Amino acid sequence: MNNLRSAQWYGGHDRNTYLHRAWMRRGLPDDAFDGRPHIAIANTASDLTPCNSHLNEVAESVKHGVYEAGGIPLNMPVPSLGETQVRPTAMLWRNMSAMAIEEMLRASPVDGVVLLGGCDKTIPALLMGAASVDIPAIVIPGGPMLNGHFRGDAMGCGTDVWKLSEEVRAGTLSEKLFVKSEGSMIRSRGHCNTMGTASTMAAVAEALGTTLPGIAGTPAPDSRLLEMSHESGRLVVEMVFAGRKISDVITAESIHNAIVTLAAIGGSTNAVVHLLAIAGRLGIDLSLDDFDRVGAGVPLLVNLQPTGKYLMEDLFRAGGLLAVLQQVKDLLQPAAITVTGKPLVSYLDDQEVWDHDVISQREQPLQDDAGIAILRGNLAPTGALIKPAAASPELMKHRGKAVVFESIEDFHARIDDPDLDVDATSVLVLRGCGPKGYPGMPEVSNMPLPKKLLQAGVRDMVRVCDGRMSGTAYGTVVLHVSPEAAAGGLLALVENGDEIILDVEGRRLELNVPEEVLRERRVSATTADAFASPERGWARLYIDHVQQADTGADLDFLVGSSGPHVARESH
Ligand code: FES
Repeated sequence: MNNLRSAQWYGGHDRNTYLHRAWMRRGLPDDAFDGRPHIAIANTASDLTPCNSHLNEVAESVKHGVYEAGGIPLNMPVPSLGETQVRPTAMLWRNMSAMAIEEMLRASPVDGVVLLGGCDKTIPALLMGAASVDIPAIVIPGGPMLNGHFRGDAMGCGTDVWKLSEEVRAGTLSEKLFVKSEGSMIRSRGHCNTMGTASTMAAVAEALGTTLPGIAGTPAPDSRLLEMSHESGRLVVEMVFAGRKISDVITAESIHNAIVTLAAIGGSTNAVVHLLAIAGRLGIDLSLDDFDRVGAGVPLLVNLQPTGKYLMEDLFRAGGLLAVLQQVKDLLQPAAITVTGKPLVSYLDDQEVWDHDVISQREQPLQDDAGIAILRGNLAPTGALIKPAAASPELMKHRGKAVVFESIEDFHARIDDPDLDVDATSVLVLRGCGPKGYPGMPEVSNMPLPKKLLQAGVRDMVRVCDGRMSGTAYGTVVLHVSPEAAAGGLLALVENGDEIILDVEGRRLELNVPEEVLRERRVSATTADAFASPERGWARLYIDHVQQADTGADLDFLVGSSGPHVARESH
């Protein structure tokens, strides 16, 4: 009997091993069950996740590689999340998906896993689930779609939806042209082509060491994605023989590298909540402050939408992620290894930048300090985020009067009311959008501006919310306010006209209302009625157990690891 995990199912000649082998033979030879690693391909391909719908083809390339290296590949469809499709918000289902992946990997006779993801929540869920089982695992990011063009300009997924819809509201673009642009935006298979959450999480997965170095950002239709998928299939078999588990790859050092990467690429704020959750699964000590500390002074080197000009295909053409990381090599932790067993930094020396308009030189960054800033104050005692790279410099220090919305529905109902008491200096406040309050922490923090201000030429305002923001969005938006309003945060007590103070340099977010007034408001508060309270199903379980954004919004009973060993069996 060999010492593979799958040998617990297949090793021996008793009734149980007979049952396991016989049903899995499917034409396989005897030696398939004697010393050959069985590799799950955790596959998030789904027609309802259009960004991942090509992953079945990727899985075929993985299979070739696994067979070549002596393993047995096993396609394992897992829950998939189409960011633009699922209601009420994909984040409600990230933890459910992670739990399903964890439990099915634990329950199944597999020695290693290849994680096929792409759309926003899929790579985080795959990494969280695999981390809690802690077997050899390698990620294959499905890659971005090709650049689309409209009216002669490149179209960024998501980012241009926000821009063009604001043009429609401002009266500078017809609805007919707006709808016509849809086909130009989504031109090929793949995930969003801006530096949104999917592109960010692909880069983060590579910086964590969990991918074949050089794969992140390879466009979905590019044949090199299949080539590297084939190679990843070979590699995971090697990882099983070497005993290289996900916990050997994702460490405090590799998370440091992911945070540096997040800043250098101007990545999505969503990576913060996902990295906190992944670290929690592995027992790695990571806090919001680490993002501020490690990201401080990291230059923004990538000129990509939503904050810049180009798209993911351009980044790939200009040298890709490794060329970016080569320029910040001195900021990376040299000991952090990748799935290959070699350090990430060992892949950087021969990288080159082919277009300095897309990837800036370290000496001439697009911004000196691109790290995500963590704000604190009475309005966010355990923390809130702002992405300075996406904000307006003139609003980074601001005092304004609150215009409060109880929910996203309340916001939509009133934001364009000509009588709404709002001006360009106001602070738009949206509550009820945290993990518990919505539930699921939707991407609504980048509230559209009031129509009358848009028409007057205003393009940014300070916004404060306990929800998240799409990685493709931009603006001076304070998000992930913790604790959220539904968990007793002061955000629940803000009233129209209250002064809010934002000071990004001083890392402050304050509600400038006397303490005794707030005490009185807390006694008579009725806002809790506005928060969701489902009676059954996953949403009920989620609300009862979800943690706040500042620790990763994981369920309290999913933090940590169950490990790969399952002792009992029923046959
Ligand atoms: Fe799937 Fe953007 S909608 S990555």
